[in-house]
Amino acid sequence: MSLSSSLALGARELSRLDPQDMLGCVRRMPEVASLAFERGTAWQPPVPSPRQILICGMGGSAISGDLARTLLQGRWSVPISVARQPQLPAWADDRTLCLFLSYSGNTAETLAAFGEATARGIPTAAIASGGQLADRCGQRAIPVLPVESGWQPRAALGHLYFTLLGMLAALGAPVEPAAAISRLAELAVEYAPDRADSDAINLARRLHALPAAPLIAGVSPSTEAVALRWKGQLNENAKTTALFGVFPELTHNEIVNLVASGEERAVVVLRDAEDPPLLVRQIGQTLGLLREERVSDPVEIVASASDPLARQMELVSLGDHVSVYLALLKGLDPTPVAPIVALKARMA
Ligand code: F6R
Repeated sequence: MSLSSSLALGARELSRLDPQDMLGCVRRMPEVASLAFERGTAWQPPVPSPRQILICGMGGSAISGDLARTLLQGRWSVPISVARQPQLPAWADDRTLCLFLSYSGNTAETLAAFGEATARGIPTAAIASGGQLADRCGQRAIPVLPVESGWQPRAALGHLYFTLLGMLAALGAPVEPAAAISRLAELAVEYAPDRADSDAINLARRLHALPAAPLIAGVSPSTEAVALRWKGQLNENAKTTALFGVFPELTHNEIVNLVASGEERAVVVLRDAEDPPLLVRQIGQTLGLLREERVSDPVEIVASASDPLARQMELVSLGDHVSVYLALLKGLDPTPVAPIVALKARMA
């Protein structure tokens, strides 16, 4: 039996459907974020004023880099880039700070990029729960910020992202986590599994109802990384294919195949209250067109907290909850990611 369409989840049913407690990990994000941020702020950067920051990682670790990049793009003068690949860009030099994020500390691409950074003499630091990355940093006296072990990397977002934000705050980035953490705590209550009519459970039901892959659309730059987080969480927790698009770019290409496919699909648009009027109008027109063409009855979610990080985390929390509830509706355990484990083993 999977999550009933009319009833909320009781504790017994939940522990049977989600034996490794992915939902609990999602709901504990506000508890771990505060300490993670503090730890991050206490670090000693190898360069006090980097000209640019390059964040290297993969999957559930890399997404923290994208969240930071998009949060700070319009608020901090230091450019942040994210690299999901074993090679470093040629522009990375001794005025660049390279931050390596790998929850396990054993991801091949991240370790290869780390090796290149140390060989090229680029100032470097890492966040990891252990593994080879932590060992190699230890051997070279490179700062490594430890995060608690025992989580799935994607579930450790509270540890990884808030540690990273603390590190960036120590370098001068305008980040204050208090409002975001209290908003996350409110949402953990609002989206609790015993609330049968929460936005999170209702949205999961909506995604479950339509067989075509849902489109998760963000806005560049405000919610672009959040939409990517939703896609990853739907892939890994709910084992669901999801399309990822970004306004305004998707109105210049994807809109064509969405209309042409003739398939009815869920479209979720993630917006920020401060998105510019041009984009708000364009999104409104696009959603109108999708309704007229019967592609979808889109859902538009506008984060509205007054603090930008709180707005970002509002949308992340909703997506994380939706992905777990969708897994439960499908009768799937949200935690295992067997193909990722199998591929890593084949590559080892
Ligand atoms: C698994 C997950 C993956 C990993 C990725 C990289 O929960 O989220 O996307 O994050 O395979 O591994 P790490 O994060 O250990 O470097």
